Amino acid sequence: MNTIKSYVEAHKTRFIDELIELLKIPSISADPAYTQDVIDTAAAIKTSLEKAGCDHVEICETPGYPIVYGHKHISDDLPTVLVYGHYDVQPPDPLELWESGPFEPIIKKTDIHPEGAIFARGSCDDKGQMYMHVKALELMNETNQLPCNVKFMIEGEEEVGSESLAWFVERNQEKLANDVILISDTGMISNTQPSITTGLRGLSYVEVEVTGPNRDLHSGLYGGAVANPINILTKMIASLHDENNHITIPGFYDNVEELSAEERAEMAKAPFSLEEYKNALDIDDVYGEKGYTTNERNSIRPTLDVNGIWGGYTGEGAKTVIASKAYAKISMRLVPNQDWREITELFKTHFESLAPKGTTVKVTPHHGGQGYVTPIDNIGYQAASKAYEDTFGVPAIPQRSGGSIPIVSLFEKELKSKTILMGFGLNSDAIHSPNEHFGIFNYLKGIETIPLFYKYFTELSK
Ligand code: BES
Ligand code: MN
Ligand code: MN
Repeated sequence: MNTIKSYVEAHKTRFIDELIELLKIPSISADPAYTQDVIDTAAAIKTSLEKAGCDHVEICETPGYPIVYGHKHISDDLPTVLVYGHYDVQPPDPLELWESGPFEPIIKKTDIHPEGAIFARGSCDDKGQMYMHVKALELMNETNQLPCNVKFMIEGEEEVGSESLAWFVERNQEKLANDVILISDTGMISNTQPSITTGLRGLSYVEVEVTGPNRDLHSGLYGGAVANPINILTKMIASLHDENNHITIPGFYDNVEELSAEERAEMAKAPFSLEEYKNALDIDDVYGEKGYTTNERNSIRPTLDVNGIWGGYTGEGAKTVIASKAYAKISMRLVPNQDWREITELFKTHFESLAPKGTTVKVTPHHGGQGYVTPIDNIGYQAASKAYEDTFGVPAIPQRSGGSIPIVSLFEKELKSKTILMGFGLNSDAIHSPNEHFGIFNYLKGIETIPLFYKYFTELSK
């Protein structure tokens, strides 16, 4: 066995126990009730980076949650890898759908993870994946095989839009200077077919409010004679897609890059079973934009989804009422070249124009971000590819993801370097959902694969 494998083997129980401790802290960035927990998590990450062998670690204050920065410098003549990750997590609700507490990590076996998976909020997204990098540093340090300089930047606001990180990156270009950015916050195809994420979608997130009469009304006395905001809102939302499930906002597709037939054929080679996909979700058919496959719909095509909708009476029994207001939260996933601010403006103008007389509409933009594509003809991608091939025994497939990490495009703009997305999660790991989990196999494979990325990246940099 090589030193990497034997180190992981010898220390795996402790690696798992340490991650479990980290997962017990409810670092929910969206909910101010957990402010202290988010701050405590940053402190725990700082300690872990010190123990793993960084020569310098600091908690950097920002207008929001702190950023943990650490580095180990070996030589000015060697390349520098900047690791990014996030220590905040999504809110765990609905709580009643969790089989065990979201912040009481336990290990259970599943069909996909026969060797066990850690169930807890943040296990995969992103504490588990971020912590693989901390343990990989420990491994390289303890076995004297860290081949280059390394910097860590771990933030606490990814799940709420990374505003403070953008602020931090703009002010610290020198400190963050690097040759490649390495992130594990995405997934791969399966435990036998690794993939490297080469694209992320952009995002525009808005909240809409439709107002009708100035107060809630008796639905018998007024029903049929005034605009009902809930009826109107649902009609407006329904009109945002046509019969082919194309989005109807004028100008929405103007900058969308159409992939060539060759590129689409290449994408279609990735292993995928529509039957398994449907079975895993208990649906008898998929649904989406006409003319595109499921994998295209969720990666290279832009989409629009209602994330939440409310208004009127939703309590026990029945109440006959026409509500004064109705609301919805809507997200649009964007593809490279679509500018999220421009799309937000197009949405606002169009949505406001849909409001009939007798109603008013307010559109409030939330966060957003640009999409990203990584080229595969660079040494970062090649190093990742060689690393996966060594540990999985098969070459990794490049694959675009449907998710978003908006800060990645800002990294490229401000730090002028490429990001390599080495994700070890699976789509079935239920990130953002109840019963989120992360396979023990995936966690340990990540710790084993990351040092090889450093090795090959350093070699290829010469
Ligand atoms: N790690 C995810 C993004 C992700 C997951 C990308 C899987 C690719 C594969 C990240 O934490 C996330 O949830 N991002 C948000 C956007 C953010 C602005 C709230 C998302 O994609 O909804
Ligand atoms: Mn994440
Ligand atoms: Mn997330």
